[in-house]
Amino acid sequence: MTVKTDPADELVKAGSKDVVAWSEKYATGIALIDQQHRELVNLTNHLFLACLTGREAIKAIFKDTMHRMVDYVRFHFSTELEMLKRINYPGYDEHKKEHETLVKKILEASNDYDSGKTFTPNSFVRTLKDWVFGHIALTDKHYAAYVADQKQKGLLTDRQINGENQITAPH
Ligand SMILES: [Fe+2]
Repeated sequence: MTVKTDPADELVKAGSKDVVAWSEKYATGIALIDQQHRELVNLTNHLFLACLTGREAIKAIFKDTMHRMVDYVRFHFSTELEMLKRINYPGYDEHKKEHETLVKKILEASNDYDSGKTFTPNSFVRTLKDWVFGHIALTDKHYAAYVADQKQKGLLTDRQINGENQITAPH
């Protein structure tokens, strides 16, 4: 059996400082969310890889990967908000606002790139990484603590938290 190696995994193993290594500091303890956060790690690392592929190739690959990243961030944020609504999270409005600000910033950068404004892919990916993973490591921790507390008190079940049929097999 041949095992397909992911070039992004190789970079993680090599200790590249530009890639994101999944870490427990990102874990929320919520299966649905952690699975999507891992996918964000993958996409971010593939964006870095796209930056390393050389001048001409970068255009097509980077553009495609960046659009996938932008789409996935939006998809993930809406999943997260649905979950927060489902569990009546008290900080819902605030969390939603933070997502809106992040999406706005990401879309502005993405549009600048599409319209041919001066754009440095490497620094964009670094900024994106800081925004998204800063959010995951800090703001998402607030609802993670709330969820853990409610679960411990027997006020929330995993089914309520993760919803039904929402966890897809990781690919
Ligand atoms: Fe969030």
